[in-house]
Amino acid sequence: MSAALEVHGITRSFFGVAALRGVRFAVPEGSITGLIGPNGAGKSTLLNVVSGLLRPDGGTVRFLGDEVTGFAPHRLAARGLTRTFQVARGFPRMSVFQHFMLYGPRQPGEGLLQGLFRGAAARRREEELAERALGIARRLRLAPLLDAPVTALSGGQKKLVEIGRTLMAEPRMILLDEPMAGVNPSLGAEIAAHLQSLNAEGITLCLVEHDMPLIRQLCGHVVVMAEGRTLVTGSFDEVVAHPEVQEAYLGHRA
Ligand SMILES: Nc1ncnc2c1ncn2[C@@H]1O[C@H](COP(=O)(O)OP(=O)(O)O)[C@@H](O)[C@H]1O
Ligand SMILES: [Mg+2]
Repeated sequence: MSAALEVHGITRSFFGVAALRGVRFAVPEGSITGLIGPNGAGKSTLLNVVSGLLRPDGGTVRFLGDEVTGFAPHRLAARGLTRTFQVARGFPRMSVFQHFMLYGPRQPGEGLLQGLFRGAAARRREEELAERALGIARRLRLAPLLDAPVTALSGGQKKLVEIGRTLMAEPRMILLDEPMAGVNPSLGAEIAAHLQSLNAEGITLCLVEHDMPLIRQLCGHVVVMAEGRTLVTGSFDEVVAHPEVQEAYLGHRA
């Protein structure tokens, strides 16, 4: 199977302290890949590098065969690589609908305001985006909340808005940083089902998550990081049986 994402030799330090010390792994195209590891392993930093929020000190990122190291987030989104955040970002007083509209892909060089005021073609484009926003809201069962301010939503609903926001860009791959953390179990199960259905439609997913039963349920491929390095990769059962993984998690060899 070919790789959707390949990271190779990624290094990154903060004020002289190495957070990433040569991370290397591949995310198979069409997979749900889990990225796990103890707190401080560098998982969020790695996602920040891959999604263009942080420049690596060294190493390369390839997406669907092309080198994209250091590309800005909007350039990556245009190629089909998007991400969710651990905590939903954005503008608190915006409604769910406005939030989605802000993240729809635009013509090159077109700002939001130009887009809104530029005549018939732009209006058609906005209508298409609005249709898409509505379709995504229906699919994620957010339609009744489209006019609600994002701040009025529960933690779990905000996670769904984050997923919906990334879908506006029609991604081929989504990076998700703890998409179920702090969410009640029934909404967590709903989010898991959404992820499976997106994956069944061909979207590759790479998720950072602490919930091991969930990783086992969702992820055909697992990457374990510790202390800024890739420790092991493989199936869930393979990686949890690995002595170094047990040591990283439990602090001793089992
Ligand atoms: N912006 C930053 N400034 C300084 N240190 C950081 C920054 N971001 C992450 N780090 C450090 O990098 C290491 C990895 O952190 P992080 O990527 O958040 O780990 P994880 O997501 O696996 O818990 C930690 O030691 C953390 O303190
Ligand atoms: Mg993190």
